[in-house]
Amino acid sequence: MKLVYGRLSAVYGSPTYATHRRESPHFPMKSDQDLYKQLRDLPKEELWAREVPRFDAAQARERLERVAVIRAVGMIFSRFGTDEEQAVVRAWLINLLKDPQEKIRRYALAALPKIGAGEAGEREILALLKTGNKDKEGRETRYLGRALEKVGGEATLALIEEGIELPSMTVQKVKAGVSRNEDAGGVLLDALLPLRHGDADMRVLLRCRRGLEDFVRDEAAEKLSTMQWMIESTKPGCVTLKPLKEFKLASLYQLRCFATVAFPLGTVSGEEGPKWVEPLARCIASERARDLMLSGTENAPRYRLEFAGGGHQRGAIRQVIDRAYALCPEILNDARKAPWSIDVMAANRGESSVELRPRLYPDPRLGYRQDDIAAASHPPLAACMASLAGFCDDEVIWDPFCGSGLELIERGLLGGVTSVHGTDLDPKAIEVARANFEAAKIEGMETATTSSFTECDFRDAPITPGSISLIITNPPLGRRVRIKDMQGLFADLYAAASRALRPGGRLVLVNPLRTEPQDPTLHREYQQTVDLGGFNCRLEMYRKVGAGKLGKSFKTSSASSTSSKRQAEKKKQATSKLKLKNEPDEKKAPASAPAWWSKGGHSNSRETRRRARI
Ligand SMILES: C[S@@+](CC[C@H](N)C(=O)[O-])C[C@H]1O[C@@H](n2cnc3c(N)ncnc32)[C@H](O)[C@@H]1O
Repeated sequence: MKLVYGRLSAVYGSPTYATHRRESPHFPMKSDQDLYKQLRDLPKEELWAREVPRFDAAQARERLERVAVIRAVGMIFSRFGTDEEQAVVRAWLINLLKDPQEKIRRYALAALPKIGAGEAGEREILALLKTGNKDKEGRETRYLGRALEKVGGEATLALIEEGIELPSMTVQKVKAGVSRNEDAGGVLLDALLPLRHGDADMRVLLRCRRGLEDFVRDEAAEKLSTMQWMIESTKPGCVTLKPLKEFKLASLYQLRCFATVAFPLGTVSGEEGPKWVEPLARCIASERARDLMLSGTENAPRYRLEFAGGGHQRGAIRQVIDRAYALCPEILNDARKAPWSIDVMAANRGESSVELRPRLYPDPRLGYRQDDIAAASHPPLAACMASLAGFCDDEVIWDPFCGSGLELIERGLLGGVTSVHGTDLDPKAIEVARANFEAAKIEGMETATTSSFTECDFRDAPITPGSISLIITNPPLGRRVRIKDMQGLFADLYAAASRALRPGGRLVLVNPLRTEPQDPTLHREYQQTVDLGGFNCRLEMYRKVGAGKLGKSFKTSSASSTSSKRQAEKKKQATSKLKLKNEPDEKKAPASAPAWWSKGGHSNSRETRRRARI
């Protein structure tokens, strides 16, 4: 069977490629480019069986004219070649490094890292470095250096230690590559991160989706020691903590509602470009960054540089990396599998903040995750939803759209759950939810929890009316999972909730629509607009009230909510204790206030008040 590959212009039309095209010394002349465009659309078999022999048999001049064959072979076989095919291509490319024509060697040098040079390839590149024709401008040395940045290993490091001359960027990348291969675990969660004497400005940012910051703050107030941490401020998408003494990342990763942790290092101002080189390099090599990375990494610390705004100037970035290395050679730049990230994020008035962020993959909080589905919830959102649902003894939970089961698991981890039920149309989701739930070991917790996962439409769920104390769900939002009639789906969900919930039971959901239940016994207690990555939804909680409670001002008292109230009270006390100490002047908006960036209302809307009077 012949494989025919689609055009890859989408990939090569990307901004990265555009940048590459401007900057790369490997970018061919127009005729090379035209030939390359033709060749890259050929099936790999034809490329290898027809074009490569033609190239190999050609005279020197024709080989130069058809040099694009090397690039096309490198690209196609790196993407679509089997291991065996790649080994054959690798040998061909290594042989081309001995070609008398510099341009052919250059093309082979550029293609080899894509396929993987292996030890033989590295040896050949080093041999070329020692003996190759050196042009006056050192052009070939530069290309060899670029290739070694990608494929250099122990042999290259040994030569560097012997004193062979290479650009400092190459030296840094080779060291990082060797460290990457040795690196077992990256960031150390249990290492004590020092608080250098006099570094009173050290802060820790707990970042989250906008609208969820109150959950993050409340969880921090509840779980972090006040002897160790002060909660300094809560802003949209970010809670700022001040460490009072040395700390472990593990103490932060017991919190489940935040998305990422970051340590501010400083700011750079103005447009991205050459002016940033010195201040950005100084942030990367600062004492704070150095202390955190050296204490918190298993091996030589490596970082990648990320720009929240997207595109960046490659030339200036190479200068930043070089300069940071000159200031602090213990910290290495490495785009691949680096345990740390230096993030440059647009801040206020033309300033960008520079932050250090541990990159923990997998997230230690998601150890239960055996598998995933495309439409899975954002895990911290699931944790916030569980926190909103609160704790209630003898909890019987149903997620009508359980997907991979994150909401059920997050609520299960809070304890007090008697049984969970998950339904989903997708058989793969049911399989994944079952595996994840089992791995979370909720069934082994102090309460005897039973679980059932059923592949069905939520309308046909095997749920006994009035048996459920909590429905917690992230329904299809009409984006990743397309639904023809979203209004109808939500109307049916509310109807199903009305039937399934026992009095006092809660419905916690993410709502992308401005719909409400028709049933007046479902009383809205909470609404908050949340940014779900570029679009706003509302996080809501309804409570099923007994018919007798309608028309009266509804109180959240019920047998099952006593401990939830107790927990809420405990949280309130903890927060106010911290507040008294830490933020005496700050006027805080109520937890249910709408986020400032959104027009979304909250539970005190006129509509809700009118409905509560019915
Ligand atoms: C946003 S995802 C849920 C993600 C889930 N919370 C998780 O942790 O992975 C929505 C899920 O609803 C399911 N779904 C869509 N329509 C459904 C229906 N009518 N009945 C049951 N499940 C449905 C989809 O298969 C999808 O898995």
